[in-house]
Amino acid sequence: MNHPSRNVYNFNAGPSALPTAVLEKAQQELTNFNQSGMSVMELSHRSKTYETVHNEAIDRLKKLYDIPNDYEVIFVQGGASLQFSMIPMNFLTKDTKAGYVMTGSWSEKAFKETALFGTGYEIASSKDDAYRHIPTVSAKDVNEDDAYVHLTTNNTIYGTQWQVFPNFGNVPVIADMSSDIMSKPIDVSKFDMIYAGAQKNLEPSGVTVVIIKKSLLEKANEQVPTILKYQTHVDSNSLYNTPPTFGIYMLGEVLKWIEMQGGLEAVQKVNEEKATYIYDVIDESNGFYIGHADKASRSLMNITFRLKDETLEKQFLEEAAEKGFVGLNGHRSVGGCRASTYNAVPTEACLALSEFMKEFQAKHA
Ligand SMILES: Cc1ncc(COP(=O)(O)O)c(C=O)c1O
Repeated sequence: MNHPSRNVYNFNAGPSALPTAVLEKAQQELTNFNQSGMSVMELSHRSKTYETVHNEAIDRLKKLYDIPNDYEVIFVQGGASLQFSMIPMNFLTKDTKAGYVMTGSWSEKAFKETALFGTGYEIASSKDDAYRHIPTVSAKDVNEDDAYVHLTTNNTIYGTQWQVFPNFGNVPVIADMSSDIMSKPIDVSKFDMIYAGAQKNLEPSGVTVVIIKKSLLEKANEQVPTILKYQTHVDSNSLYNTPPTFGIYMLGEVLKWIEMQGGLEAVQKVNEEKATYIYDVIDESNGFYIGHADKASRSLMNITFRLKDETLEKQFLEEAAEKGFVGLNGHRSVGGCRASTYNAVPTEACLALSEFMKEFQAKHA
């Protein structure tokens, strides 16, 4: 542990681990931010001091993801769940269709919201396979005049992740990256919109990051309430109403931390190493641990597995909790076990978990 009071291994699925260095800095600055004599939480969101925090967070995001100039970056509230509605509200009409790739419960929730605004259809689904894999899809599975296609890049509950992004030709691509945003470099130009409830890899809950291409914005519907229009947030630099200022400050600090790690390539390398420790134990356990996701679709962020015996699984989770491993229970809808290994989860936590899994197997196999 790198801090005496942080004596647990935090594998929570979200909200989840934040870098200790960021929390310590926030603690130091909590009562007197930047010699203002106030906490960042007490600043006016219209003040110069806050404006700098806000704009620096946006600039850091643009730089780290190498976001092209024809994109806007905005912060909205309401979580990724509000995006499920805002997307069809802004981009779908009664005369158009939107295709959804169904890779888990979050895709299902996003898809459900299309019904009020137009026609959603399933491009492909791995539901029959308990969402163990990411389906193979391409431009021929969609209609050229679709309003957009939607995919969930990392499936937090089932532990699958797109390894290669599909090409849908000229149809705008919208991606929910809530659970793998900034976990690796991506080519933003392959997407017309990226959104993420940022409480996993980027900050405490409260901010939803939206990266949106100007050409998509131009296609937005007019009959949308002001606060639910993307354009409103673009025009006001995400200051249309009071933003979650502390969350945005924390986002900026986490982005600085990512820079200090060596940027997204370095973060990806560490994420791969961390996940490998745990997947290796699963793969070498002779079926004692059973991974949920197909190997080719495995997530580097959420590692899902079961034990072949349910009583033993309960015991595993209890013993793990006693040893300070937090958040290893699978999502309440699927059960089993899940280790969320987001950016801020230290390598030593993943190593410790892999050791614990080996010891538990040795005792109980
Ligand atoms: C992939 C994905 N999408 C959407 C959500 C919902 O996010 P929020 O709680 O911010 O609405 C989650 C939450 O875990 C998620 O993992």
